[in-house]
Amino acid sequence: MSSVRRYLLLASAALGVVAEPYNTFDGPGFPACRDVAAVYNVTSVDEMVSIVKDAAANGYPVRPSGKGHMWYDTMCQDDPRTVIIRTENTNGISDFSLEPGAESGSVVIEAGVTFLQLAEYLHENGASMGYTLVNWNISMAGAVAMGAHRSSIREESMVAAGVLSLDIINGNGDIVTVERDETNDDWLAASTSLGLLGVIARMKFKIYPDFKVFAKQDIYDEDEVLNGDIYGMIAPYATANFWWWPYLKKFHHRYYDEIPETLSDQEGFQSTFSVTDLEAAAAITILNSGKYLETSNELIETIFFGLWSAPNFHEKTTDQTIYTWPVYGWNYDVLIGGLYPGQKPEWEYGLRGETLELAFPMTRANDMLKRVRKFFDDEKKEKGITMTSTYRSGINIKFGKPYFDLLGQVTYDTSDGADWSKGAIMFDFPHFKPSIGDGKPYNADFYPRLAKVLIDEFPCRPHWTKNTREVFGNATKNIDPDHLARFKAVREKFDPSGTFKSVVGEILGLYD
Ligand SMILES: Cc1cc2nc3c(=O)[nH]c(=O)nc-3n(C[C@H](O)[C@H](O)[C@H](O)COP(=O)(O)OP(=O)(O)OC[C@H]3O[C@@H](n4cnc5c(N)ncnc54)[C@H](O)[C@@H]3O)c2cc1C
Ligand SMILES: *[C@@H]1O[C@H](CO)[C@@H](O)[C@H](O)[C@H]1NC(C)=O
Ligand SMILES: *[C@@H]1O[C@H](CO)[C@@H](O)[C@H](O)[C@H]1NC(C)=O
Ligand SMILES: *[C@@H]1O[C@H](CO)[C@@H](O)[C@H](O)[C@H]1NC(C)=O
Repeated sequence: MSSVRRYLLLASAALGVVAEPYNTFDGPGFPACRDVAAVYNVTSVDEMVSIVKDAAANGYPVRPSGKGHMWYDTMCQDDPRTVIIRTENTNGISDFSLEPGAESGSVVIEAGVTFLQLAEYLHENGASMGYTLVNWNISMAGAVAMGAHRSSIREESMVAAGVLSLDIINGNGDIVTVERDETNDDWLAASTSLGLLGVIARMKFKIYPDFKVFAKQDIYDEDEVLNGDIYGMIAPYATANFWWWPYLKKFHHRYYDEIPETLSDQEGFQSTFSVTDLEAAAAITILNSGKYLETSNELIETIFFGLWSAPNFHEKTTDQTIYTWPVYGWNYDVLIGGLYPGQKPEWEYGLRGETLELAFPMTRANDMLKRVRKFFDDEKKEKGITMTSTYRSGINIKFGKPYFDLLGQVTYDTSDGADWSKGAIMFDFPHFKPSIGDGKPYNADFYPRLAKVLIDEFPCRPHWTKNTREVFGNATKNIDPDHLARFKAVREKFDPSGTFKSVVGEILGLYD
């Protein structure tokens, strides 16, 4: 008997018996799914197909998972019979094609291929994935499913924008190939599918010749951004973003663009999440005390701001710290990088967070940031509470070029009448989750209250893996009903019995 069969019999026999949470990257206490019957580490697309066929025959739910790099309990539906297909070990890369002198080419990747893995493979072959990438050790299929994106107004930065075609295992266990075609609702739904059409088993992905970039960072007073030409500070660059320090009233402005290969021999390598034992121990002590003491939060923001002003880059060849901007290096190393040798990502030290991310029309960028500022000021005025950023890189303000599909954060021509044609500004507010007491952040209800104000006062769209159920519930009114109806029709075709249902899909009304 094959291991798949044996496992499936086991899973079926165990239905309703051993349900336990399936956790996010943050581990125990951070469920992505509240109760699942089994997690299966598949090693081939065929295995995925047989699990889905068995699920279809026996009526239990399935969700695929890459690396669990999401924040809340919104991956599955709340059904303890749920089976997780873990894609990490199905990670073949094939059909590399990039002709000498060609502007672009393509490569075929399986569901579990991560950005780090593909970037390394491409670099070795003189290629890159351009700007259609996100931060970290995340599966590309998981990123495409949830509409993930980098920060860019000038260049395509939805990961889905790099997809040429998708192989989806539908609710019957059949593999359906969906080609990029903006006139076809199947494609427009598959482009940001929320995993509701089925398992993205393979993708044909667009690639480019490898290239070098610079990274540079400036510091602004808050006023200069809140009242400034935000579009003009972001749109000229291949990729750019802000980090906001609300206590210090400062912004970091980070921007990147292509350079001639011969400009510099530097091989800068970025790390956003690496920390040393010493740094982690210091940070966690101050951050945990900030659960009760406002002054600790002010101190940590000041420390983080100082650290974040220097380049978070090492020279790749020697692992030496780089002290001066601009930094130069190869595309992926500079745009994303990874972990420094001998260091661990912050969450492995118990530095954990909650977040909240919403996208607004670029035309409302100044209004939105000023509204947030007013919310901070009102908290001070009305309650005497100073709120700060308790995340090592501040509040992340990102941007997105318009990209049309049904449920993406940067789509346009929607019934809200808002002008999304200049792109979107995203407000991503990660904050420290203490590991002491009740585990709630300082003044914890500040964040949902802020979310409510933004959702009620602006046209805005949630990031699909960085918000709570409650935020999704409230934000649904801002999603175009016609897009939802068209998506639902495709969903019913691909997955008529709702095998792949998630709480996000339920909240959006796609199963009513
Ligand atoms: C440290 C960190 C950095 C991040 N940086 C960014 C960023 O820069 N930009 C951004 O937009 N987002 C970012 N994210 C969010 C991240 O891109 C998404 O949460 C992404 O979906 C995670 O992919 P994963 O492979 O870990 O999937 P999981 O977390 O395992 O799954 C996420 C969702 O995708 C579904 N899914 C996974 N694989 C498949 C598949 N093969 N087919 C269909 N559905 C699937 C799952 O069922 C689940 O609903 C970040 C998250 C973290 C934790
Ligand atoms: C699946 O892989 C994960 C990560 O490597 C591991 O923690 C887990 O124990 C594996 N599960 C099984 C059933 O092998
Ligand atoms: C990415 O994930 C893989 C598998 O879980 C792990 O072996 C690797 O160390 C990770 N890489 C980084 C940079 O975290
Ligand atoms: C969602 O809406 C309800 C009802 O208006 C409100 O009580 C709640 O605070 C809102 N939550 C968020 C996070 O917006």
